[in-house]
Amino acid sequence: MAITKVGVLGCGLMGAGIAQVAAQAGFTTVVREVNQAVLDKGLARINAILDKDVGKGKLSAADRDASLARLHGTTSFDDLADCDLIIEAIVEQLPAKREVFTALDALCPPSTIFVSNTSSLTIMEMAAVTKRPDRFAGLHFFNPVPVMKLVEIVRALTTSDETIAALHEFTRALGKTPIDTSDTTGFIVNRLLVPFLLDAVRLLESGVATREDIDEGMKLGCGHPMGPLTLLDFVGIDTVYSIANIMFDEFREPRFAPPPLLRRMMLAGHFGRKSGQGFYKYEG
Ligand code: 3HC
Repeated sequence: MAITKVGVLGCGLMGAGIAQVAAQAGFTTVVREVNQAVLDKGLARINAILDKDVGKGKLSAADRDASLARLHGTTSFDDLADCDLIIEAIVEQLPAKREVFTALDALCPPSTIFVSNTSSLTIMEMAAVTKRPDRFAGLHFFNPVPVMKLVEIVRALTTSDETIAALHEFTRALGKTPIDTSDTTGFIVNRLLVPFLLDAVRLLESGVATREDIDEGMKLGCGHPMGPLTLLDFVGIDTVYSIANIMFDEFREPRFAPPPLLRRMMLAGHFGRKSGQGFYKYEG
């Protein structure tokens, strides 16, 4: 199961990060978006990050150019037909994910491994629409992808040992550290992180402390790089709200239920950094 060519579905925040690290690690990488405008935006983000790294002396101009030469953008599924690995990072909606995997299952040879970067959906629900449930798994990256060292490798009920071994090798080739998890909603990290973030909202909601003091508490008291309310804004209020709802539906435990304030913020369009307003205000 040698992987040399990687296809990435989606060139948003996560897809662009994954495509960037794959190209930088030496893989021929094709990233597919639904239209040229969205694709151009994602590719421009990758260019800007690589340029910044060159400016800081972290990357040579020659390595940047070589990485970009290995990275190809497309709006067509056909250009992914000969990939050894397809990584899906599109919108977090099951019907949309099932649709792209159904299309690619008909195009790609049986040897191609399919993975989803979903943060909360069930891998088996996607694997089941393909004829390759043994070559189907989850590969969960963390934001910002070029910086965060972890990748969760998610084994569905049907995933083969060969597929897991190939994904371990691929993840290590990216310079990341893999951890293994079963196909349980939230996997390892979000299962622990999401209730923690929701508890921080409950603390704020119940007037225990200010947003600044809650964040400072976890930064200075526990060494977290960001306080939980800053992290919620960073990940996106809409993203965490959606993950929490999926986890609550699965486990029916109050600790996974989104607090009322989070729902009010959703209704107000306060999605965090991306909308300029979350728990904090963002300029520019
Ligand atoms: N892309 C590439 N590089 C980036 C970046 C990005 N988007 N954002 C920051 N960096 C780089 C900077 O260039 C800088 O590099 P340098 O040290 O070589 O100069 C380095 O990261 C540190 O950045 P900054 O100095 O600007 O800022 P910080 O020191 O505050 O670090 C951070 C920023 C890395 C985001 C840090 O605050 C952090 O680790 N935060 C926590 C992030 C986290 O928890 N992520 C996981 C979220 S959960 C998730 O993704 C799962 C999902 O399913 C919800």
